[in-house]
Amino acid sequence: MSTALDPADILRGIFSSAIRDAYGIEDADPLVGPARNPKFGDFQCNAAMPLGKRLGLPPREVAAEIVAHADVGSLAEPLSSGSIAGPGFINITLRGDAVAGLLTSLDSPGLGVEPPDSPETVVVDLCGVNLAKQMHVGHLRSTVIGDTLARIFERLGHRVIRQNHVGDWGLPIAMVTAKLRAEAEAGRVDLDRLTLGDLNRLYREAQLECRADTKGLAAVRRFDLGPKAEAELGAQVESAEACLAEAKRVLVRLQSHDPEIEAVWRRIERVTMSVCLEVCRRLHTRITAEDSAGESSYAEELPGVIEDLVSRGIAEESDGALVVRVEGIAEPCLVRKSDGGYLYATTDLAAIRRRVREFDATRVVYCVDARQGLHFRQVFGVAHRAGYDVRSDGSLASLEHAAFGAVLGEDNKPLKTRSGENVKLEDLLDEAVSRARAALADRASSLDDPDAVAEAVGIAAVKYADLSNDRTRDYVFSFDRMVSFEGETGPYLLYARARMNRIFDKASAQGIEEPGDAAFMLDEPEEKALALVLLRYPATLRAAGGALEPHRLCVYLYELAVAFSRFYDRCHVLNAEGRVRDSRLRLCGLTRRVLSDGLETLGLPVVDRM
Ligand code: ARG
Repeated sequence: MSTALDPADILRGIFSSAIRDAYGIEDADPLVGPARNPKFGDFQCNAAMPLGKRLGLPPREVAAEIVAHADVGSLAEPLSSGSIAGPGFINITLRGDAVAGLLTSLDSPGLGVEPPDSPETVVVDLCGVNLAKQMHVGHLRSTVIGDTLARIFERLGHRVIRQNHVGDWGLPIAMVTAKLRAEAEAGRVDLDRLTLGDLNRLYREAQLECRADTKGLAAVRRFDLGPKAEAELGAQVESAEACLAEAKRVLVRLQSHDPEIEAVWRRIERVTMSVCLEVCRRLHTRITAEDSAGESSYAEELPGVIEDLVSRGIAEESDGALVVRVEGIAEPCLVRKSDGGYLYATTDLAAIRRRVREFDATRVVYCVDARQGLHFRQVFGVAHRAGYDVRSDGSLASLEHAAFGAVLGEDNKPLKTRSGENVKLEDLLDEAVSRARAALADRASSLDDPDAVAEAVGIAAVKYADLSNDRTRDYVFSFDRMVSFEGETGPYLLYARARMNRIFDKASAQGIEEPGDAAFMLDEPEEKALALVLLRYPATLRAAGGALEPHRLCVYLYELAVAFSRFYDRCHVLNAEGRVRDSRLRLCGLTRRVLSDGLETLGLPVVDRM
């Protein structure tokens, strides 16, 4: 069990018990928060106002009663009637030595994050690229948010399994496989030189070729547009139908592991995944080839899923297809098409079974676009009806859609290139790095490896911009804002860390060593303020993991950097003397460790000097 280090948490406990002891009320929110005005203390408890209403008593009287029952021990200055202000606010001033004591406990190898009593097994579904398609900004969010959530769980001491649910199966993949095979046979593409760009083009061509313009043909006939038009459209429909029939034959051969077809498919997979994994590496994620569990890996399990759903009366027939109804959702979940084909949802059901039964997941977190909300509500509902979320010990795994919003351009519309295409993720990263290089230009001469610094700053900028927004909201992508060294940005945090490094560089040049266990002295308000931010670190990590909200950690690290900067502007460190210098240097060291740990947990690349 981790002990509370955040004074706000400790005070919440103290005031909850005081309210219970005074009024026998268990569920009252103690309403403890930072003081509105630092003149009156560090924190305030505002519970007396709503309680007064609830009990029909004057709030100041309630406040006095709470004060009489609150035992702040040595954490804060003793409470008295003088602590009550206005309509019934209770002002609390922490004792410097108590804060110093908490800070000493925080300054441990784990920075106050102790391993959980019973670690969870968390599966994080992330990245989710599709074969033969370029990664676009949607994949950026799934990859970045997913990996950061995974890192947060890892940091909290849970077991994490990343799963890259690659779209590598089904008719569209068979279409491009058929197309590539035909192109290779005709000598128009060289399988050994294939790029993802080629595949993307072939994918689109295959889609077009398989799409019969039956509506056009019907219109030509209806309006009697003449034999020439009819012949043209008739030929288009005929050739599209032939294309589709060929794709279906290829799908069947793929499903039965026909070696010739499989070899073509493997090419597509290798080319796509090598780009995907390179982007994952460049984005400083921990996603590797071992984390890939594409839709194809469930192919053999789908008939079993359907058989199970049918034999237990969970799936029912509807117009020749099979559907499962889920309480509270109007649209039933389609699990098998009338032509016998399986769907995206069928695969996700098999995936839940594997994740819960084989991986023994306590929690499965899907980092997927919010537009797939209905899909996940349906699939989770079906899985629950079928008991696929029941773990071996009988407990239920929790299935959660960590949905994210869209990335918008500066025109507030989904981000597109000038020609209206999806923005390629690699191009976007290149652009961010080149902007970072420009922003660093004036200090490039003093950097050891300007390219490496630009790369780290550019990637950190993109990741922080993505992670620092409320995940569920759309956000506007702005290169100018994200590469700025001021404000809430990745570069600002990297710069703050480099600045801390510089203090220690200077210290060691002056022969001053980092004091391991100097006593913390927090006499200046900026010192105490920094200490209070530091003490929030463990609870912030837990809250970010619990709510699946990386932005909480982003905001926290920004606040930490700001508190540090205020402290450093106001208090001498190396020019201070004796015990004060030791205390301040230790405070700098602890801040640097928390910031570094937080950046590593967010997954931002860092540079030591910039
Ligand atoms: N490949 C899908 C897409 O691009 C994302 C996969 C999400 N994961 C899942 N288990 N369905 O939309």
